Amino acid sequence: MASPRFHLWSSVGKKLLTGITGLALMGFIVTHLLGNLNLFVGSEAFNRYTAALHALGGLLYVAEAGLVALFALHAISAIGVWRSKSAARSVQNTVVASKGAPSRQSLSSRTMIVTGSVLLAFLVLHVAQFKYGVFGGAEYTTTVDGEEVRDLFRLVAETFQNPAWVVLYMSVMALLGFHLRHGFWSAFQSIGLLDPRIRPVAYSASAIFAVVVALGFFVMPLYLFATGAS
Ligand code: HEM
Repeated sequence: MASPRFHLWSSVGKKLLTGITGLALMGFIVTHLLGNLNLFVGSEAFNRYTAALHALGGLLYVAEAGLVALFALHAISAIGVWRSKSAARSVQNTVVASKGAPSRQSLSSRTMIVTGSVLLAFLVLHVAQFKYGVFGGAEYTTTVDGEEVRDLFRLVAETFQNPAWVVLYMSVMALLGFHLRHGFWSAFQSIGLLDPRIRPVAYSASAIFAVVVALGFFVMPLYLFATGAS
């Protein structure tokens, strides 16, 4: 008898892909947050950190290509899961109500597709702004340890002298918190690593993770605005 074959684009496969890519992206976000903490130390520390990243050369390009692939796969598989669920709901013509465990619907779970779409749009803007300097500042340079490097601290600090950017970034970081609130424990569930016995702990860990990460990013624009750092 033929054994059942696993299809990556089955509903289980899409959930698995969303979970794995989500966890990998959380790893990136935590790393990015930790690196960006150098903004609180000062311009030299931050520019030394980004210069060290740029010094990775070819390796950095490989990591960036991997990151783009992860974001794309995460978005595509998550949209696939969402569409399957919507289709199933319309077939059943059921009323969507809070179901409690194990589906555990909440505001953050119901808005994942919205918060995820906003985050994706933010990412395009964010990378264009800071990596490519499309709104200005691409030419800023400074000297760190005798080497001429990009003055990314000046670009970031100047950006956040504008209250509109501060408000936009803070709003998106709040949405990031919402997304991670559901995404963290849900990713473990999707890859089959959430034992029902530790569910309550996982929900709390998820909330703590989301608050710490979102708050970490949230205070950066505010700090640079308040201190007028340059
Ligand atoms: C206040 C919050 C943030 C600040 C100040 C910040 C700062 C920066 C800076 C300065 C760069 C350019 C790095 C370089 O060219 O070497 C960058 C790149 C990037 N950031 Fe952020 N970031 C923030 C939040 C986020 C968030 C929340 C995400 C993801 C959800 C994110 C994702 C990225 C990505 C994907 C890149 C491109 C990395 C690369 O291609 O090397 N950032 N960020």
